This record gives sequence, structure tokens and C-alpha cells, in this order.
Amino acid sequence: MKILVINGPNINMLGIREPDIYGKADFAALERFIRTSADALGVEVELFQSNHEGAIVDRIQQAYGRMDGIVINPAAYTHTSVAILDALKAVGLPAVEVHLSDVRRREDFRQISYAGMACERSFIGLGFEGYREALRYLAGRAG
Ligand code: DQA
Repeated sequence: MKILVINGPNINMLGIREPDIYGKADFAALERFIRTSADALGVEVELFQSNHEGAIVDRIQQAYGRMDGIVINPAAYTHTSVAILDALKAVGLPAVEVHLSDVRRREDFRQISYAGMACERSFIGLGFEGYREALRYLAGRAG
């Protein structure tokens, strides 16, 4: 089973950006964590990070017919992007939303998740562990 893992804007700044919210581990550590988790679960992953909404839409579209599921942390686009929501709906792949921080306990503008409307599950506020839970969910769903 092949899963596309998408990280949105500023996730590449992990370790530097607001460490009190996002932790001190950097983006390379997150990518290693995702690959290690995928290996342990016996799933193949492709990792994609972009700061550009359209690039994320393009990557979701390219997953059609190639991938079996999508794990996505759309970052700030979570709360603004109907285009990412529509792309997830267009390809119709099982999708899971992840957020490192507990957005439910943050600002009002973070309380809406457009992408989440196209996702079967959301793992929120679990840090890196949320990605492992998302991969585990998709792996279990297939089996
Ligand atoms: C985030 C939460 C978003 O509100 C924020 O814009 C991010 C990261 C998270 O993983 O906690 O960039 O998606």
C-alpha cells in the first residue's frame, strides 16, 4: 500500500518556528519519523512538503490512480483552502488530517478545517505521533 504524506507551509521550519508550540525537533526529524513509522507498518510512503497551495493541489491530483491514501497536514491552508478540500474530494482517496498542535485550543481562526471535511479521521495535537496514527489508520483500513 502506498501513502502520500503531505505537509503544508512552514512545516519545513520545524525546530525553528515557535518551538513552544511545535517542539524543538526539526523537519528532517519529522521525515525520518514518518519513514520509520511507515517501515514498521509495512507501508510505502512518498513525502511531499510545499509552501504553495497550488503545488499541494497538483500533488493531490497526481496521487489519483497511483496512491492508496493520503495523510495531510495542510498547515495554515487547513483554515483557508477550499481548493485543497476540492482536490481531496476530486481524487476520492481515503485521507487523514494531522496537526502537530492542538488547534482546537488555539485561535478562533484555526477552528475551521476545510481539508478535514474530506478526511475520514483527524489526529490533532499529538505531535509527530499523529502521523504514525494516521498511517496506522490507513494501513488498518486497507487490511
Ligand atoms: C498546524 C496548525 C495550523 O493552524 C498552523 O497554521 C500550522 C501547523 C499544526 O500542525 O499544528 O502551520 O497545521
